Amino acid sequence: MHIDIITCLPRLIESPFKDSILKRAQAKGLASVNLIDLREYAEGKHKSVDDYAFGGGAGMVLMIEPIDRCISDLKSKRAYDEIIYMSPDGDLFTQAIANELSLKQNLILLCGHYKGVDERVREHLVTREISIGNYVLSGGELAAAVVTDAVIRLIPGVLSDETSALTDSFQDGLVAPPVFTRPADYKGWKVPEVLLSGDHARIDQWKQEKALERTQKRRPELLL
Ligand code: ADE
Repeated sequence: MHIDIITCLPRLIESPFKDSILKRAQAKGLASVNLIDLREYAEGKHKSVDDYAFGGGAGMVLMIEPIDRCISDLKSKRAYDEIIYMSPDGDLFTQAIANELSLKQNLILLCGHYKGVDERVREHLVTREISIGNYVLSGGELAAAVVTDAVIRLIPGVLSDETSALTDSFQDGLVAPPVFTRPADYKGWKVPEVLLSGDHARIDQWKQEKALERTQKRRPELLL
């Protein structure tokens, strides 16, 4: 899978892709993430990518021209499954959307900044809009990093233990059960005995019960 992230602030999200699972996925050739600086597609002496909003109002708006030039350039090199604009009023990102996107080959994530993008970008250039939650970030960059992480970890082979993505919270409609590691007794706080029993059938049943119990308590809406 290849993900192109278009942003006017690439430095803001360089580091998440240089560590841990995302780094490993790229090293294994299972995914590639490319940060594209929108300014490279700006024209004029000042290389501006934004301008004042017509009709007034506080805040700058990203202009359509550099975005259109950038997307056209990318499209001349690859066929994209989706061109996604990160926006607080987009579709709420869920595990189901992450699963769906993990099956795609090529994606563009377009990050807004300031007051967002010229509406014509949304009308004519993007195929989909995603929000990571009902709150407003300073730009789409952190949201794009969240989506990229959630999607890439689902690609088969990215996680060393393939089952671990399948046992994630939400993957089976339940949140994950609690987990423990050594020591088995810390200051008298004990790990549940069943987990030390070696009886895998009992352990699996315990995990299922705990996942259900936890979902009922914390995310009852998942069970409706
Ligand atoms: N840009 C600003 N806020 C956002 C959000 N909540 N989700 C996605 N993109 C955003």
